[in-house]
Amino acid sequence: MNDHQLKELLNEMTLEEKTGQLMQLATPFFKGASDSGQITGPMQDMGINDKDIINAGSVLGASGAKEIKNIQKKYLESSRLNIPLLFMSDIVHGFKTIFPVPLAIGCSWDMELAEKSAEIAAKEAAVSGVHVSFAPMVDLSRDPRWGRVMESTGEDVFLNSTFARAFVRGFQGNLESDKYKVASCVKHFAAYGAPEGGRDYNTVDMSEWMLRESYLPAYKAALDEGCEMVMTAFNILNGIPSTGNKALMRDLLRKEWGFDGVLISDWGAVKELLPHGVAANEKEAAEQALKAGVDIEMMTSCYVNHLSELIEEGKITEDLLDEAVLRILTLKKKLGLFENPHRFANEEEEKEFILSSEHRAAARELASKSIVLLKNEKVLPLKKEKIALVGPFSMSTDILGPWSWAGAPEDTITLDQGMKNYVADLLTADGCDIETGSEKTLQEAVEKAKQADKIVVALGERSDMSGEAGSRADIRIPEVQVDLLKKIKELGKPVVAVLFNGRPLDIKEVMEHADAVVEAWYPGTEGGHALADILFGKVNPSAKLSMSFPYSVGQVPVYYNHYNTGRPKDAPDAQVRYVSQYLDAPNEALLPFGYGLSYSTFAYSTLEISAETMTKDEPLIISIEVKNTSGTAGEEIVQLYVRDLIGQVVRPLKELKDFQKIHLEAGETQQVNFTITEEQLRYIHPDMEYKSDAGEFEVFVGGNSQDVQSKRFTLID
Ligand code: NOJ
Repeated sequence: MNDHQLKELLNEMTLEEKTGQLMQLATPFFKGASDSGQITGPMQDMGINDKDIINAGSVLGASGAKEIKNIQKKYLESSRLNIPLLFMSDIVHGFKTIFPVPLAIGCSWDMELAEKSAEIAAKEAAVSGVHVSFAPMVDLSRDPRWGRVMESTGEDVFLNSTFARAFVRGFQGNLESDKYKVASCVKHFAAYGAPEGGRDYNTVDMSEWMLRESYLPAYKAALDEGCEMVMTAFNILNGIPSTGNKALMRDLLRKEWGFDGVLISDWGAVKELLPHGVAANEKEAAEQALKAGVDIEMMTSCYVNHLSELIEEGKITEDLLDEAVLRILTLKKKLGLFENPHRFANEEEEKEFILSSEHRAAARELASKSIVLLKNEKVLPLKKEKIALVGPFSMSTDILGPWSWAGAPEDTITLDQGMKNYVADLLTADGCDIETGSEKTLQEAVEKAKQADKIVVALGERSDMSGEAGSRADIRIPEVQVDLLKKIKELGKPVVAVLFNGRPLDIKEVMEHADAVVEAWYPGTEGGHALADILFGKVNPSAKLSMSFPYSVGQVPVYYNHYNTGRPKDAPDAQVRYVSQYLDAPNEALLPFGYGLSYSTFAYSTLEISAETMTKDEPLIISIEVKNTSGTAGEEIVQLYVRDLIGQVVRPLKELKDFQKIHLEAGETQQVNFTITEEQLRYIHPDMEYKSDAGEFEVFVGGNSQDVQSKRFTLID
């Protein structure tokens, strides 16, 4: 099928067939489907008939080669023009081999492994018949009350953008020629990660400057990497719902950025223009969304029921509809569906690839690189000693995290299973549930703990306490679990807390009562193995937080790259009272962005800078020597931050500009060189121009965003 044939096909289509292409329905609507398709939003009566379903353009949430082939076959038998269906699914951090949640992957700072995780996810999904993955989610998030922070790689613009690219490369590769690839859909456009109060689907209101400075770059990075699709966001943005926001999508995304791929609404978001109060009825909603640039309407039927009428009334032109249909047909063509509607769906290869030892090994490696060591008072690594493992996550399979609908508990390696490979006589007890407990279960855990030399306490949030619609106003670990930890600590033995959660939590009490704290996040299918590797020192922890851990929920949002205010607390002439501060909490996060410990210790030499001035054509070289001062080989993530001291708009106190992950043998020293170019010093000006200003800058290098050395330099014209 070539472009000319595609246009001919479009010309042959009736209005009904065209609007059908714009409708996406979940699996249960289709003949040949089991009714067990993945449902990820509210189901409502859509007022559509069998004919509408025959015309539908795409399917949401189906999986399994047999199932998908069946649906496609049955569908094509009744499709007048033989236009194949597109199958889309949320393959967010793995398909059946589940990788750590994206926030955890963010803490690996490892682009190669992140790309590989998406490549494996794509391969498993592709042989299962999926064509498009609704990932990556790149919404910048600074508010851990929002449950979906686990879906993004964190709070930093540069790190998120770098990961966005890696994920798109992994999913898509060269979509038209590589085997086992799926198209990637970046989401949620735009600024979905900044809902007021951290409450999901809530209002977002921010200046265009902030949007362009912090929130848009990661979406743009994904598109620069060739990402085929974009999904709208549920939130309003400056008073207009994203899904009907013409300025955002028609003007910025399509015209300014030149995006000509498929734009899909989020689940039900077109019809949600009604409760938002910007459309009086479905017809108005359809008109707004299509004019704004939305091609596919997911799981509501405003388009299919009203577009023809809108065209007849002259409210929208058929050209506008044709444009959207052509984009969808073009994606189908790119995926080769006209020649082979089943693409890579293959039952034999499903058996061969899914959960293969190679995929499991990659999941184990990435999980171990995502686990962050937050505290260690000489307790870890564990030896072959008498160990008790207590807490509700000790034997839990709920460690895959949200968006792991295809991952199965029976394929999941739990923490106790992983640890038993190191100590066969591990003592285990739950101690309590996630939110409830009893004296009996508590005592069982205490009795087991009494028999041990060291105790590991596995605590956290159930996976449905984060993710979509998983906002929390209290971000502490449920009290019953903290009580368990305190009781265990009273035994006076070394205690290691291992945390399973989807967001930065308020963990002050855990930090106080445990001698070592390990942030496991939701580590995925191989979680138990990866954690045991870390706990017993087979793998030396190397991850660093990609999102700050607040001191308390009252500080939220608290993020490292904030501005100075006119009354900074730490200014040399700061007053006692009239400064920007909390009376009852520090300004700083409990654990800053970029923070994470290792079993090795690293010493940084004095920072060197190649010159005191730089120009556009003469970049600076920043160098530092890092020495592993311990007897254990390890990895360190060396981070480079910059501050523009005087700008036309305020500049963050620090902005991550680069980093290097280095491996150092015991006692080894390595020189790390960074290049600073003029391009890295650009920022969004008051007129929205992205450029640099001549003047003075400060550069910082260190092992986290707080613990740094600095030097100054001047950019001259
Ligand atoms: C709603 C979610 O917001 C989105 O991320 C997801 O891709 C869709 N549902 C489809 O499942």
